[in-house]
Amino acid sequence: MSLEGKLALVTGSGRGIGRATALKLASEGADIIVNFFRHREAAEKTAKDIEALGVKAEVIRANIGDPAKIDDMFNTIATKFGHLDILINNAASGVGRPIMDIDAKAWDWTMDINAKAALLCSQRAAKLMEGRGGKIISVSSLGSFLVLPTYTIVGVSKAALEALTRYLAIEFAPKNICVNTVAASAVETEALKFYIKEGLIKDSRQATPAGRMVLPEDVANVIAFLCSEEAFMIRGQTIIVDGGTSVGLSALIGGGTD
Ligand SMILES: NC(=O)c1ccc[n+]([C@@H]2O[C@H](COP(=O)([O-])OP(=O)(O)OC[C@H]3O[C@@H](n4cnc5c(N)ncnc54)[C@H](OP(=O)(O)O)[C@@H]3O)[C@@H](O)[C@H]2O)c1
Repeated sequence: MSLEGKLALVTGSGRGIGRATALKLASEGADIIVNFFRHREAAEKTAKDIEALGVKAEVIRANIGDPAKIDDMFNTIATKFGHLDILINNAASGVGRPIMDIDAKAWDWTMDINAKAALLCSQRAAKLMEGRGGKIISVSSLGSFLVLPTYTIVGVSKAALEALTRYLAIEFAPKNICVNTVAASAVETEALKFYIKEGLIKDSRQATPAGRMVLPEDVANVIAFLCSEEAFMIRGQTIIVDGGTSVGLSALIGGGTD
């Protein structure tokens, strides 16, 4: 697999899965645009680590929950580079609440960042991919089809993201753009530490059939594969990276395998 000469935008790539994905794509030869919102230092560290791999990195601040900021980000990319080959819709946020405590503001905040931004970024990316084709990969979670405590809005936003993936895959196929999603179970990141601390998720190390938790790099590896020409015939799919959690009943009910 080589992504040499490709230009990739990874939203939310200062930390976590986004950072791991940016580094993986860079290690395959792609130049990377590192998007961040609140943590500039982390984004600049990611950019530095990318450059150490011998490719170029550009850092762009944009709150992808704000359509005007998405436009600003893509205007900058259009002016500076004039094209884009890969878009990774990774950045996400969310309000964790029981259903009766969900209000319109929490719903809109979560849906804007996790679902609407993927549509708006994909539309702008498709224009920059015109005449050269491209890859659009989004990052989802098992909460799109499994029910997790207080995860309602995020789960619904991820279900929307996966449905959007299918529609984009068909409508963008004539533009030679491959669209897919990677859905992970609990991944060892800052976000997960928050969920474990709040008691919303158990430490699922022993309950994962593969024997360890999913790492950001596990997700990044599958994203990178979907960005390669080897994955050309995979379209509109949600590929699950969970070490077997979603098909192992013992994992779901919290038991081990022995
Ligand atoms: N961790 C898990 O267990 C898990 C499991 C399944 C799926 N996922 C999915 O994987 C993706 C990455 O999650 P993660 O765990 O790596 O998250 P994380 O460590 O919490 O990082 C979130 C990233 O998103 C960025 N971000 C948040 N809101 C943003 C906004 N409005 N505009 C631009 N960037 C924004 C953050 O940037 P700043 O820091 O600069 O604000 C940060 O880089 C998400 O789509 C998440 O739903 C995670």
